[in-house]
Amino acid sequence: MKSRRQFPDLRFILPLINWSLPTFNNKKSLLSKVVLIHDFKKIASRKVPKAVYDYVEGGAHQEVSLKRSVDAFLRVEFQPNVLRDISKIDTSVEIFGEKISIPVIFAPTGYTRMMHHSGEIAVAEIAKRNNLIYCLSTMGTTAPDELSLAVPDARLWFQFYLMKDRQASVKMIERAQKHGFEVLILTVDTPVSGIRARDIRNGLTIPPRIGIKTLFDMAKKPHWWLNLLTTAPLEFAAFRGYNEPLSQIAAKIYDSSLNYEDITWLRTVWSGPIIVKGVQSISDAEKLANIGIEAIVLSNHGGRQLDKGPVILELLPKVVEKVGHRIDVYVDGGFMTGQDVVAAIAFGAKAVLIGRAYLYGIMAAGSEGVQKVVDILVSEISNTMALIGVASMSEIKPEHVKLRNS
Ligand code: LAC
Repeated sequence: MKSRRQFPDLRFILPLINWSLPTFNNKKSLLSKVVLIHDFKKIASRKVPKAVYDYVEGGAHQEVSLKRSVDAFLRVEFQPNVLRDISKIDTSVEIFGEKISIPVIFAPTGYTRMMHHSGEIAVAEIAKRNNLIYCLSTMGTTAPDELSLAVPDARLWFQFYLMKDRQASVKMIERAQKHGFEVLILTVDTPVSGIRARDIRNGLTIPPRIGIKTLFDMAKKPHWWLNLLTTAPLEFAAFRGYNEPLSQIAAKIYDSSLNYEDITWLRTVWSGPIIVKGVQSISDAEKLANIGIEAIVLSNHGGRQLDKGPVILELLPKVVEKVGHRIDVYVDGGFMTGQDVVAAIAFGAKAVLIGRAYLYGIMAAGSEGVQKVVDILVSEISNTMALIGVASMSEIKPEHVKLRNS
């Protein structure tokens, strides 16, 4: 049958038109184009020098660990329930006795002021504003005391590399404890540094050195360079006053003799909760649970250390089954969507640590970019919960998710 036609009637058309004026605020218009966290990647790559972008995005060696971690998210298959009352969704979760708004923690990331001059302070402020936890890296470009003064009453954790120089280690831990850091996260997957092919090819140095190649880059990314050169110098801020070149400090940070006894010792030095980050096997998880720490982070360091390691999302349910009743199990590695956060919770994770996700946000648009990353995660987590038929985190069960074979 032929549809009956009529002349277009303005009364029907006018309400369909969006009358809002185009915005001349660059950042606002840029942020309005971001729908998924992935959308930040392209913008970020235009804002910072290639070596900086590659440092964030890249992994170790052939980046197989990284690729497999990310590919695993594509194998997530939810098993939804319908006809559940999801009119009130609570995305919060309790971490060490206090609630955070979503089960997402800002992971420690090195040299954050290199990604954007506002760096660690900006990210911690966003964490505080959204009732989330920020974890400062030992390799941060803001010192622990500076951060806690700049963002008072934020929930701050301190990521730590146990150094050969135990006295220096104790000094650093005490400083963090004195300034209100709540939890110590000991990273254990760095007995040596991973081979980061991109950084080697790009000749990445920290702080960046100005050679001929860099001069060309400066012309392409003037804002980034201007911000770098007109704000406080980039440095490993926790080591300020050590009076040694950066390369020598870096060599001292990783202690290749680190072992289980050191963790027992650490227990006597740090009175708060201890989380060990970088576990990639069931047997290590069991040993650590026996030592009496509070939690572990299953992590391949974002694919930046051992290449061709296990796929963390596959390992997660197996580890939770063995030690989940004794210690909390956190997870990280390429989380970029709220859906994947919900999947990790279903597999038994306490919460997820995000690194790259917020770094893409900060590289693209400073702290507003980080806020947008949080907004996206909140909305995606809540949307996924609604669509699988759960109203709270404790209702998310292993039955809600499986990993397909391909
Ligand atoms: C890295 C170190 C800083 O992954 O943890 O680059």
